Parts: sequence; structure tokens; C-alpha cells
Amino acid sequence: AVETSLPPTANSEAAKPIVLGFSQLGSESTWREANTASIREAAGEAGITLILKNAGQDQQKQFDAIRSFIRSKVDVIAIAPVVQSGWETILLEIKQAGIPVILLDRSANVEDSSLYVTFIGSDFYEEGVKAAKYVIDKMRHHSGVINIAELQGTVGSTPSIDRGRGFRKMIGDKQNFRITVTAPADFTQSGGREVMKRFLQQPREKWSHVLYSHNDDMAIGAAEAIIEAGLIPGTDIIIVSVDGTRRAFEQMAAGRINAVVECNPLLGPLLMQAVKEIMAGRTLPKRMVTPEGIYTQELAGMEMENRKY
Ligand code: AHR
Repeated sequence: AVETSLPPTANSEAAKPIVLGFSQLGSESTWREANTASIREAAGEAGITLILKNAGQDQQKQFDAIRSFIRSKVDVIAIAPVVQSGWETILLEIKQAGIPVILLDRSANVEDSSLYVTFIGSDFYEEGVKAAKYVIDKMRHHSGVINIAELQGTVGSTPSIDRGRGFRKMIGDKQNFRITVTAPADFTQSGGREVMKRFLQQPREKWSHVLYSHNDDMAIGAAEAIIEAGLIPGTDIIIVSVDGTRRAFEQMAAGRINAVVECNPLLGPLLMQAVKEIMAGRTLPKRMVTPEGIYTQELAGMEMENRKY
């Protein structure tokens, strides 16, 4: 899918508009939809011509999109990488074409950091740490071993890798916390539901007491599977997830999710600002992290109306 948003006429008359090519990795989740909408809206407001191509989770399609941006001689290329490996060759091609690159949301593992200008997005490792801190605190009165089931996101993606690492780092030195079952569910609601169903077919000690889901959509799908199994999500199984979508807040207010760690998808304004700074010849920090919190059931009802995604 290709979407082009043209800037207002007044701007195009004043100066040649900046052209931004953006390779979006897919549309797997509520978070991703909000992210795409934020970028489209911010481009329109900033008077930047956006060529957005959606790769449907396929890295090769991201390469194809990027090569088309190079051929079109766009001013800046932004990439949300579906997985974090395999980016050297294409980033080198962009560099040779003299086009600056912004990594957005997810990271790309490259040794040569001159291949991109800046990486804008969340600290996924810290999100994993926050999720684990919540679980440790929530289960502090529980005696004996605490079993944790984990739903991972896309295999090889930065959020899945780092949310897993941050979480494990925190529970690592606690004798009584252990991850008993873990599997990828692709950041989708249907994936979360299917994988949770499989977890629930295993002996109880595999999936009780806690579910750590790498995003809200998978947690919502898992809650459906838990209900189908005759159990009460949020009570029989404590659930913590990541993102903080309004849908997850509704689930929290209904008692089906216990806590969500925030991950802000509204990166459009920051991206457009960075594009303008680059075009004005200014230097940007190599890493820009969005500030984020954690929300629990107690605050969900009050906070729900403020959710923007
Ligand atoms: O990269 C951000 C992650 O990707 C979000 O947590 C998830 O919902 C999305 O699919």
C-alpha cells in the first residue's frame, strides 16, 4: 500500500516541499495503526510530502520500498525496521545516494552508526524492566515459586528482544520467579489468542500465575483464550502487557488486565521535527527516547479518557 499526503498549497508556493519516504513495517497492531496515523497527520501539518509504503511484515518489501525512495530522490528516508538484523547493505545504498536516514520505533543492528542520523523511539529494555518490577511487587505476598508465561512479539524485532531481556534481567536474581513457557505470537490479537490456548493445554504450573505479554493486542487475545478456558483473566492469571492502548485500558478497567507499560506510538511530530532539522543542516542526537510510564487497574478508569491511541 502506498499513501501520499500532499502539503497545503500555500506551503508549496513558498518553497519546494520536503519529501519524506517512510517504510512502515506493517499493520499488525493497534499501536501500529496509531503510529501510521500519527505520521500521516504530522506530515500534513508540517507541510512535508510523505510517501508511505507499508511492508506487511516483510523485510524484503522494506528494501524494495527504500530502493523506490532512492530512485525518486526523496530528501529523507525514515524506516521502522521489522527485524533488527540485515540492514547494512540497504543502508549503505542509501548513504551512497546521499540521503539521510532516520530509524523510527525499532532499531537496526549495524556496526557503522554513520549509516543513520538518529534513532527515535522507546526504550524497550526499560519497558521490560518496568513490567518485571510490577510483577515482582504484585506477587510479593505469594509464597513459593511464581510461574510466568510469556508471549513474545515478532521474532528478531527490537521490542521483542529488548522487552524479553529487560524482564529477565530483573527476575534473574530472584530464586522464586521463573519463566515456564514462552513463544512468539507476532504482536497480533489472533496470535496471542492461539498461543495462549496452547499454553493452557499444558499443565497448570506452566501458565499459572502470571502472563507477561510483549504487547496489548496479544494480551487481549490471550484474555479471550483464558475466558474460553473457564478462567478469569486478571484474577486467575495476573496479566501485564506493553503499549497502553485505549483498548487495553478498557480491559484494565474491566479487571481483565492488571497493568500496562506505556509505549508511545505518536512519533509523527518528533519525526517531522527531525526531518526539518536535518534539512536545515542541524545536528541531531543519535538517540531520542520518548518518556513513558506504567499504569495499573487502580488508575485505568480515570486515565482511559486521556488515552490518545
Ligand atoms: O515496535 C513497537 C511494537 O510493535 C509495539 O509494542 C507493538 O504493539 C507493535 O506491533
